[in-house]
Amino acid sequence: MDYYQKYLKYKNKYLILRRRLYGGELTEEQKITDFNTPQFRKIQGGMESNIYLDITNNLIYKVFIKRKDVKKGPWSIQKNIAEETFKKSVDNYKKASTLNLGPQFYGSYFTDTYNIIVMEFIDGYTLTQKNINKFNLKDRLKELINDLIKNELIPSDLTADIHLNNFMYRPKDDKLFAIDL
Ligand SMILES: Nc1ncnc2c1ncn2[C@@H]1O[C@H](COP(=O)(O)OP(=O)(O)OP(=O)(O)O)[C@@H](O)[C@H]1O
Ligand SMILES: [Mg+2]
Repeated sequence: MDYYQKYLKYKNKYLILRRRLYGGELTEEQKITDFNTPQFRKIQGGMESNIYLDITNNLIYKVFIKRKDVKKGPWSIQKNIAEETFKKSVDNYKKASTLNLGPQFYGSYFTDTYNIIVMEFIDGYTLTQKNINKFNLKDRLKELINDLIKNELIPSDLTADIHLNNFMYRPKDDKLFAIDL
């Protein structure tokens, strides 16, 4: 690693620590608009969002693609729904972060085409039945789901999509997380 990279690494560690201690917003340079660079690795692409890992700073950027801005017709309605969903998602990530039920939340911002949430990268495993057995997580997962319901992070009528791949386990500090909020 050359000196410049080292500098960037420590500068960002410092910024992250400072934000954890004092709160505050993302810096302008952390509000990335182009994810098509070597700094980012796309780890998942879905219908609504893409997940990018910022390799240099160990951050996850959850990138929601905005609907087209059409004034009339069904698209305008869909756009509003997308904005509402995003706002709700930001609130949920914030809340889960404070309650230690999800990844640390670092901020959100938008561009013309994207709505973006920045969070801690969980260096662990997405849950599978095999991992649940291996790490003995069955009761803890139930407990986590109850906590999420209690805090209105998922609806109690269980229409929510509670997929195993929306949870992650980090063996390093034995922590279980809800990651898709
Ligand atoms: N904070 C994180 N740390 C590490 N990996 C993550 C994080 N957030 C998401 N991922 C990875 O990306 C995958 C998809 O994340 P998430 O469920 O939030 O996105 P999604 O677009 O809702 O996907 P889907 O529609 O498939 O549920 C996760 O299963 C996980 O592998
Ligand atoms: Mg998901």
